[in-house]
Amino acid sequence: MLQSNLPMTEGQKRLSMVAKTGSRSYSITAKDVDLWYGDFQALKKVTFNAKQGIITGLIGPSGCGKTTLLRSFNRINERYGNVTTEGEIRILDKNIYDDDVSLSELRKTVGMVFQRPNPLPISIYENIVFGARVHSGRGELKRSERDEMVESALREVQLWDAVKDNLKRRATSLTLEQQQKLCIARLLPLKPRVILMDEPCSALDAEGIERVEELISSFRDRYTVIIVTHNMAQARRATDECVYMLLGEIMEHADTAELFLNPKRKETEMYIEGRYG
Ligand SMILES: Nc1ncnc2c1ncn2[C@@H]1O[C@H](COP(=O)(O)OP(=O)(O)OP(=O)(O)O)[C@@H](O)[C@H]1O
Ligand SMILES: [Mg+2]
Repeated sequence: MLQSNLPMTEGQKRLSMVAKTGSRSYSITAKDVDLWYGDFQALKKVTFNAKQGIITGLIGPSGCGKTTLLRSFNRINERYGNVTTEGEIRILDKNIYDDDVSLSELRKTVGMVFQRPNPLPISIYENIVFGARVHSGRGELKRSERDEMVESALREVQLWDAVKDNLKRRATSLTLEQQQKLCIARLLPLKPRVILMDEPCSALDAEGIERVEELISSFRDRYTVIIVTHNMAQARRATDECVYMLLGEIMEHADTAELFLNPKRKETEMYIEGRYG
């Protein structure tokens, strides 16, 4: 076969990625998940598998259940009371509804970031340390351990250089992009395996979006990322596989390039072409 030294196009990169993901195992396997808020059924027989170490997008019109599905992966829905979930969700091959599952452990393994960055109104440094403190079963972390944890988390989200001389600054005074990176950073000391992101760029300007997308891209292989977005360009750019949901059901799940170029369902095609939703 001829070898070319030309850089790969985005499409080729994606294909080579897909070839690599062919043998990957799954971080999340959900089977026949039904979820009700009171007597309103928000998820209907959802069966979904997320491959380890890739970025999977959830798209679909407002109210179709994207956030609900995301929140079922760390059992945050249950905070709303009046929620009934049936079916099976396995994360890293453990059924998260088993009696012996610790919600605190689950939420360490499956971290989440939201639409509006929500740092605590304390220093940048303390924001990173806070989660680790809450979750740390053992006593107080040593100063040097905390310093190392803060530096490593901030480096991983590409925020260290911007804030290293001012770690005592109040986190809420950062730009929205920096706040969102900080919210991602504070998950990292807990050693998550899955990171759920619910429209993480929707409060950001174009530059912020680009940089947070770069960050998410850098998470490939190390974390399994599930990202909800209303931004079709973002779904195409930033995800490896994409799931289209409608009225609580999964309509289609495919390689992202495939889903956008050659959708199998009429409903998917109409949505991605902007004809409804
Ligand atoms: N806490 C709740 N109590 C009752 N109903 C809810 C609750 N949260 C969501 N719902 C309903 O469940 C359905 C799915 O909502 P969900 O927020 O998951 O949709 P979504 O796809 O994330 O929408 P959006 O794109 O607007 O964020 C909607 O009809 C919504 O009104
Ligand atoms: Mg939502």
